[in-house]
Amino acid sequence: MKFFADTAEISEIRDLAATGLLDGVTTNPSLVHKSGRDFIEVLKDIAEVCPGPVSAEVVGLDYDSMMREAEVLRKVAKNIAIKVPLTPDGLKACKALTGDGTMVNVTLCFSAAQALVAAKAGASFISPFVGRHDDVGFDGMQLIADIRMIYDNYDFATEILVASVRHPIHVVEAAKLGADVMTAPPKIIHQLFKHPLTDAGIAGFLKDWQASGQKI
Ligand code: G3P
Repeated sequence: MKFFADTAEISEIRDLAATGLLDGVTTNPSLVHKSGRDFIEVLKDIAEVCPGPVSAEVVGLDYDSMMREAEVLRKVAKNIAIKVPLTPDGLKACKALTGDGTMVNVTLCFSAAQALVAAKAGASFISPFVGRHDDVGFDGMQLIADIRMIYDNYDFATEILVASVRHPIHVVEAAKLGADVMTAPPKIIHQLFKHPLTDAGIAGFLKDWQASGQKI
């Protein structure tokens, strides 16, 4: 499973890249706003630190605006994936961009039917939002299972990018279902390392080592 960081904070991305765990980055207009930085500048910095796909979202709602914005964004770096919303115009842009060799991440997916049409439009990635799905009383993981089954039935190459990840269990469940990628805030990626028994074990071994009076 590939790990993408869902953030526009360059220090967090550098930190994760140093762990060797970082396969890509996803941003969205809310994350860019939170960073307080210029969109193009922040994208340049991220694409330099992370050689994997870096998702940059268009904000135009019609095909022409999306294509105009995509043209600006894809010039920033070779590893930019254009993020388009799951709408008819978004999928039309997806078809045109992927036909041209540009990676496209189709975002704001909340149903298996939407994932099916995105794959037919040639999406490189489909982003089902599991956390927001759970928030409104649906089962986000069932959506991942359904998409996995559909994509496998027809050998679609579109990668399932599990988004809106809120805790490590989302990551583990998505991995069990065979999702290709998950994107999560760095805080959650760091939580994946954690287990109280690991911390307790280290403390216990250190205490006994000190009592032994030995050195390495
Ligand atoms: O980048 C899209 C997605 O991961 C958003 O997550 O937590 O705002 O639902 P969240």
